[in-house]
Amino acid sequence: MRMMSQDEISHIRSSVDIVDVISRYIPLVPKGRNYFGVCPFHDDKNPSMSVSREKQIYTCFSCGATGNVIKFIQDYENVPFLEAMKILADIAGISLDLGEIKKQSNHNHILFDIYDLSFKFYHNNINTAFGKKAKEYLKNRDIDESIIKEFGIGLALKNHDMLFQLLSSKKYDLNVLMKSGLISRNDMGYVDSYYNRIMFPLWDISGKVVGFSGRIFNGEQDMSKYVNTRETEIFKKGELLYNYHRAKEEARKENKVIIMEGFMDVIRAYTIGIKNVIAMMGTAVTKEQALLIKRMAREIVLCFDGDSAGQKATLSCAEELMKIGVTPKVVSLEADMDPDEYIKKYGKERFIGLLENPMNLMDFKLSYFKKHKDLSSDQDISKYIHDILGELTKMDDEILKELTIQKMSQEFGLNPEFLKSKLSDQTEKPVLKLPTVSRKLNKYDKAQMYLLYYMLKYKEVIQLYNQEIPYLPTERYRNLAFHISYYYKINGNIDIASLIDQFENKEELLKTLGEIDQLNLKENYTMEEIQDYIQVIREYDIKNGQADLERKLKEERDIHEKVRIANEIIALKVRREQYD
Ligand code: UTP
Ligand code: MN
Repeated sequence: MRMMSQDEISHIRSSVDIVDVISRYIPLVPKGRNYFGVCPFHDDKNPSMSVSREKQIYTCFSCGATGNVIKFIQDYENVPFLEAMKILADIAGISLDLGEIKKQSNHNHILFDIYDLSFKFYHNNINTAFGKKAKEYLKNRDIDESIIKEFGIGLALKNHDMLFQLLSSKKYDLNVLMKSGLISRNDMGYVDSYYNRIMFPLWDISGKVVGFSGRIFNGEQDMSKYVNTRETEIFKKGELLYNYHRAKEEARKENKVIIMEGFMDVIRAYTIGIKNVIAMMGTAVTKEQALLIKRMAREIVLCFDGDSAGQKATLSCAEELMKIGVTPKVVSLEADMDPDEYIKKYGKERFIGLLENPMNLMDFKLSYFKKHKDLSSDQDISKYIHDILGELTKMDDEILKELTIQKMSQEFGLNPEFLKSKLSDQTEKPVLKLPTVSRKLNKYDKAQMYLLYYMLKYKEVIQLYNQEIPYLPTERYRNLAFHISYYYKINGNIDIASLIDQFENKEELLKTLGEIDQLNLKENYTMEEIQDYIQVIREYDIKNGQADLERKLKEERDIHEKVRIANEIIALKVRREQYD
């Protein structure tokens, strides 16, 4: 795991200033005690990220992203912890030998080595005499030498154990070879999992080969067109995006990223100079992938296959992105074509023209839901309108809602007020979760958050918490309070930036911390205020205890037990009166 000591980490972290570091990436403007900039972690036009020199943390008021300078580098650069430390050490002018640290710390390095070696083996094969037919196949698909090289395309030979021989000559453990998915076992012993396929390497987000997709090319039948390597510790399909590491820079430059379904589509796009493009590889987008995409660029364009599966995938991908506050645009290809076919048939200029004029997501939905409906039938019109109202409830853009309702009311001669009333009938909850700041807080949330707010600032408040409160009612507040109190116990002070280094289960704790940091309460607390919070928290304990007891009382059959429970409830009520 982590091979750097906490001291080393703190030393590097405190040798840089978070304001200086973040300014390298985004412009910051001073305002009051903090600095503000446009948050790079969500779709934003306003300076909603605040950076505090005093606390050495950043917090986004809109998406809730928060953390110290290490977390910022990790998320912005999409690099693992140690690499972020290396970047910070460079900024601070501290030498840090990452090479060694990396080796020790990465217990997966053998899998990486195996994949790297296999990659070189396959890629070399295609350039030998054995690769003639594969090259012909690729040439027929307009994939030339330079693309073969750029995308590291290779070949698994007809022979069934060439890779196995190579790998076993390097003395790799057989178990590890099996675990890699590249070697299998059958009646004849150990064999290569792939033979006679064109091998497309798959990279993780940092650009290391972690898997392959092997394609048939001899017109074989009854076989899957593509076979992917099995998931391993280093290859998780739901966490990577094809071509991510290559597209990242270009996407940032253009502030636009294009998403396709298949990796052949990406490769084709690349041949015509479109480089800010990634592929999903035939799976539905996961939350992790959606978050990665969100950080790549502000404008996100879905350019999936034109068939009905592609259109469905467009909708589901858009849905996932909207959950994290991103509304993609859509390029819809005609006649069941995929981008690869479209580019080959209509050429570069026309495809680029399409990309430059993507549809709004809502317009795509309007036309999608119209398909296969007979709009001269009232029943179909009604279905259509229900579909669209259902989509509108998932959106939080009030203006777009209004515009869409106007459109529908004109198209079908319905009163817009009537449509709006139907819209509010739709019970479905909005998919988009609004940032936590605007969530309505009840008094118990508030008491816990306010208490934590001052615990993060004043050790006296931590001491009060330690003495007065056994247990915060809400789990995430309880966890944060526990970490603060523990940090204080060890260090005798409280320092948010370094507290963050100690978090396990980082995301959840960071989110809670961010929420609390955003409260922006006044600087100083009074004793009465803190006592108030404590009282409310205790009251919650008591009330909740009461609800529990009342339920028990109802369910209990034994009369003596019933009396005992009733007495407990009375005792609780008496205690509560003291607080009311
Ligand atoms: P497609 O079938 O659209 O791929 O599947 P493609 O790019 O058009 O393939 P070619 O042009 O026929 O060579 C989209 C993606 O789904 C995954 C692959 O990642 C592919 O890029 N897929 C497809 C598989 O994993 N297995 C398959 O058998 C087919
Ligand atoms: Mn396709």
